[in-house]
Amino acid sequence: MTAPRRRPFIAGNWKMHMTVPEARALVAGILESAPRPDEAELLLIPPFTALTEVAKLLQGTGVGLGGQDLFWEERGAFTGEVSGAMLRDAGCSHVLVGHSERRRLFGEDEDTVLKKTRAALKAGLRPIVCIGETLEERRAGGTIPRLDHQFDADLGGFTAEEMASVILAYEPVWAIGTGLTATPAQAGEAHAHIRRRFEEKYGNALAACAIILYGGSVKPANSYELYREKNIDGFLVGGASLEADSFIGIAREALRADREVK
Ligand code: PGA
Repeated sequence: MTAPRRRPFIAGNWKMHMTVPEARALVAGILESAPRPDEAELLLIPPFTALTEVAKLLQGTGVGLGGQDLFWEERGAFTGEVSGAMLRDAGCSHVLVGHSERRRLFGEDEDTVLKKTRAALKAGLRPIVCIGETLEERRAGGTIPRLDHQFDADLGGFTAEEMASVILAYEPVWAIGTGLTATPAQAGEAHAHIRRRFEEKYGNALAACAIILYGGSVKPANSYELYREKNIDGFLVGGASLEADSFIGIAREALRADREVK
């Protein structure tokens, strides 16, 4: 299948890092050397407390803003939670759903991910739904069944129109924050499979346009080779998004690969 040309999509998940002053400095560094919006799509995903300030700094730059999580209800007595409408109000266009840290540390199961994805779509946010296998699953040959299971359970029942807004992030759990990266071949195989799943369920046209990101210890030194894989459309970056040089370095390496092979 030949996918239509799309820009590299590079998202920086800051996790629980960055006070407001730190966020300001990081954004300034990123904006100083960011590729043009027509070359690459950049998305910053700060903690909730820095969203409003980062939104102000990003105005008119073409760099997007996302939330790290949301709750599935629209409002109410849910201490500590944030709704999709609140994220929209803070300037977000995207939101992470089902990150493996949420699944592992906060007990989020597939039903939670499904409800949050639905809530994101309802609020007009593009959900970035994270899926991926553990090391035990990979060693037991269970990577593809795991991905299929998550794809079906996390995204069950959505229409093709809704799915057109969903971004998938393949993040092998064993590669997140560990310094271990999937090889381009391993990541490429998982991405090709996810795109085939899209195709089987929602047809060719949608699958060809779907954005499928890779995440797990992405850094400037490995992003060129990873991005050369035809089904990798960009990256969800954790640790390396906390410094402007490495975050922009990843975008530039993806762009270099994009110009060469896509
Ligand atoms: P990492 O995190 O780049 O630090 O491995 C990726 C992620 O959690 O999305």
